[in-house]
Amino acid sequence: MRVTLEQASGILTRGGLVAVPTETVYGLAASLKYEQAVQHIFVVKKRPPENPLIIHVADADQIRGFIEEFPPGFDVLADSFWPGPMTLVLPVRTAAVLSVVRAGLPTAGFRIPRHPSAQDLLRRTGPLVMPSANLSGKPSSTSPEHVEEDFGSDFPVLDGGPCDKGLESTILGRVGNRWAIFRQGALAAQDFTPVLGYTPLLIDATGEEKPLCPGRLFRHYSPKAKLLLGKKSRPDAEEAIVGFIERTYPGNKEIFFLGSLNDPLQVARNLYKILRELDRKHIETARIDTDFPEEGLWATIRERIRRAAGL
Ligand code: TXA
Ligand code: MG
Repeated sequence: MRVTLEQASGILTRGGLVAVPTETVYGLAASLKYEQAVQHIFVVKKRPPENPLIIHVADADQIRGFIEEFPPGFDVLADSFWPGPMTLVLPVRTAAVLSVVRAGLPTAGFRIPRHPSAQDLLRRTGPLVMPSANLSGKPSSTSPEHVEEDFGSDFPVLDGGPCDKGLESTILGRVGNRWAIFRQGALAAQDFTPVLGYTPLLIDATGEEKPLCPGRLFRHYSPKAKLLLGKKSRPDAEEAIVGFIERTYPGNKEIFFLGSLNDPLQVARNLYKILRELDRKHIETARIDTDFPEEGLWATIRERIRRAAGL
């Protein structure tokens, strides 16, 4: 059910949930003030309680109240990439942030989204927690239709059209005296180099005794369809191929085009839509052509495809 900005703001300030467009993916929003609403998010998404939520705010001043001290580099990152597809994990005053939001960690993730509807809404409601608006494990929602697919046509959605980036925010946190990437995302590692003076390392955030990014432990972005990866098609292995407009693929397969090899932004924008389309068309096995570059945004696209395939 599509709702207006006024209705969305009313639902949230009364302790309800609304799906909200952001430039990355749709978020499933609850007000940070209502513990019950925040808990309801975990129920509706079937999300493991160990997986913390990102706090979204309208401007960096709103973060101040949650934090003891900002780490070095915070200001330059905030000035360069907010509003936008970056999440910063910061140590918080634990009394100031509900434990359920942090999954018990001493830190919380913060983001200022760029989408105008998300900004208007945040100015009215104050801080909102927003995980991606999809059932846990499924591809994220990049349009209102995807949200309705997962949560039903009666679920309130603020319609902001298709998402511009199509991939989640890049998550950074402090490791030692540097920033590191906890989750690859819509900003590439190299995008941070001129600002930080070094390229933040992608850390294996799952290997620690206390995982730095708990979300990476869980199954993610996966359609029901079985996914095979690689360029070389085998006659009987798959019914469908997900690939690029510059390539030709066997004529007896259904072909889904991600876009052009010259346009990773377009590919990112289409990825989750196509993963969802495979299920809508009851495709049982699909091959994704993964013969594409390694650098920049392609690295995130590759990581999402591997995760979607269960690797
Ligand atoms: O682009 C995005 O980030 C979207 C939009 C809606 O803003 N949100 C999103 O949220 O992707 P979600 O819940 O699907 O993913 C949040 C990720 C999880 O992997 C979680 O583990 C990590 O953020 N995270 C949240 N708080 C954290 C913390 N304190 N420390 C480490 N990782 C954290
Ligand atoms: Mg998610």
